Amino acid sequence: MDQIAYVNGSFVPLSEARVSVLDRGFLFADGIYEVAAVLEGRLIDNASHLARLERSVGEIALALPETIDRIREIQKELIARNHLVNGMVYLQVTRGADSGRDFAFPKGDIKPTLIMFTTVKDIVNQPSAKTGIAVITVPDLRWVRRDIKSVALLAQVLAKQAAAAAGAGEAWMIEDGVVTEGGSSSAFILTKDDVLVTRQNGSEILPGCTRKAVVALAEERQLRVEERPFSIAEALVAKEAFTTSATLFVQPVVSIDGKPIGNGKPGPMTERLREIYVEFASATAT
Ligand code: PDD
Repeated sequence: MDQIAYVNGSFVPLSEARVSVLDRGFLFADGIYEVAAVLEGRLIDNASHLARLERSVGEIALALPETIDRIREIQKELIARNHLVNGMVYLQVTRGADSGRDFAFPKGDIKPTLIMFTTVKDIVNQPSAKTGIAVITVPDLRWVRRDIKSVALLAQVLAKQAAAAAGAGEAWMIEDGVVTEGGSSSAFILTKDDVLVTRQNGSEILPGCTRKAVVALAEERQLRVEERPFSIAEALVAKEAFTTSATLFVQPVVSIDGKPIGNGKPGPMTERLREIYVEFASATAT
């Protein structure tokens, strides 16, 4: 059965979902996206994702075509129409289709494009949560406003393709000798002294929703957290490493550039934080 997508006010079969070739998302990557996980048919940490959506669109002066309440309703209707149990809802809003290809914002009354679709994925039981993933490092080639969840993802496409070609699950991006974040995830290490380290928010990284929840959950449990940059040299002597995102939750990292982290297996603190995150996700799903 064909999946159902949402396009500008209509629910349509995914194979028939269309936007204009003049859409500014297509021509200029002039748009913002969000990905929220779905567990047992309910959205995980969606308020956090929608708050980030509002912030991202504000940063590029893009007016949402629907209210946040209506966007939440559409997400839920899409989950219901697709009978989605476990997976994710992708949503994207762009500055719409103008009459030509002008870089400056459209002058007329152009309605932004809003699309959504769902993907099936058993996030809780993904095999890599047990085995961990390998990470490679790549230079961070992105622009300087990485706090905006823009659809301009070419640097991440190349980073993650390099990871895939190397048989790795993620690429961690390096700038000025320190890790910024993963191609589509936030990077963490647990030092020998049991300090959880992840880079502080700022324009250099996306403020990850999962990162935020994991930091709060760890602090509630008296784990020491330091929000600061770390180098690969520091990661290689760490006890544990992991990477977080809406579609990975807490994902153990067992090697970086072919060198093992700890004993080369998912660490106990990482496994515990994953369990704690899954409990949080189930308990707060909406
Ligand atoms: N990516 N950093 C980057 C560059 C990301 O693209 C993502 C998410 C994250 C983690 O953010 P969150 O915990 O809110 O998912 C960090 C999504 C999942 C994606 O592009 O598919």
